[in-house]
Amino acid sequence: MNDPSILSGAGDQGQHIATLWWQIFALAIAVYAVVGGLVVAAILRHRRAEPSQQSASHPTRVSESSTIVLGGLVIPAVILLIVGVLTVKTTAEADATSRSGLRVDVVARRWFWDVRYPESGVVTANEIRVPVGRPLTFRLRSDDVIHSFWVPDIAGKVDTIPGQTNYLHTTVTRPGTFLGLCAEYCSVQHANMRFVVVAMPASAFDKWLTRREALTAAPSNEAEAEGQRVFARHACAGCHTIRGVSSGDVGPDLTDVGGRTWLGAVTIKNTPKNLTEWIRDSQAIKRGNIMPPFDLPQSELSALVAYLESLR
Ligand code: CUA
Repeated sequence: MNDPSILSGAGDQGQHIATLWWQIFALAIAVYAVVGGLVVAAILRHRRAEPSQQSASHPTRVSESSTIVLGGLVIPAVILLIVGVLTVKTTAEADATSRSGLRVDVVARRWFWDVRYPESGVVTANEIRVPVGRPLTFRLRSDDVIHSFWVPDIAGKVDTIPGQTNYLHTTVTRPGTFLGLCAEYCSVQHANMRFVVVAMPASAFDKWLTRREALTAAPSNEAEAEGQRVFARHACAGCHTIRGVSSGDVGPDLTDVGGRTWLGAVTIKNTPKNLTEWIRDSQAIKRGNIMPPFDLPQSELSALVAYLESLR
């Protein structure tokens, strides 16, 4: 996973934004060169001039004031007008992308992302798999405060606002794993409210979705069966959904948690050791998150982790 960049243009909307960035950058360079050139010219002229000539500046007053009007008002106004037109044009182009794409429903929660594919009923969290080259429609909502859904490589940011549904239409143009961020301050774990968009070739995505639809939460050995019982017996089941096992709605859906790369909304890698630490005391890893510490006996904890990691 690379560092996020608005210039990589991995989505059609992102390409429009990258183009706009370069256009504004070119304008800024031109302004810098002209102003820098004038400063240097003024210094050189001042040095060459005799001291007596420097004070005799009355005849040039008129041209000085017209220079100020031209350089300080007219030219900046023209430049801002150009930037304004380019920005409106880019916004219109970004907005004109296909509206009938594969729908992905995302609900921002403190501090993770609930992800649903309504056409297939698949639910996951924080890791959004999408097909390359197929139009996408993200339906964005918030469950609590204002957050902002932003995958810099792919598209512009779109706020998620309680009581309102916003849409983001884009097509990812190349495969890769792209970091997404919450781009609106939403209290203590705003910085750890991240996600990834995993763009896969369309056929691989279809296979993943089919496999994911058929996923069962059935344990395949005695340790996992014990883990499932531990999950159901303790508070886990009250807060988390595992399809076919529980229907909690406080924390992220865990139906495919074993297949995820990250835990805690891209806070730590998903390994049995990290998952154990997370269950034992997630507050030490992501302070302020809603999950309390669980002081389970080691045998129960191992069984629970074995079961959760088998859900893939
Ligand atoms: Cu959610 Cu910042």
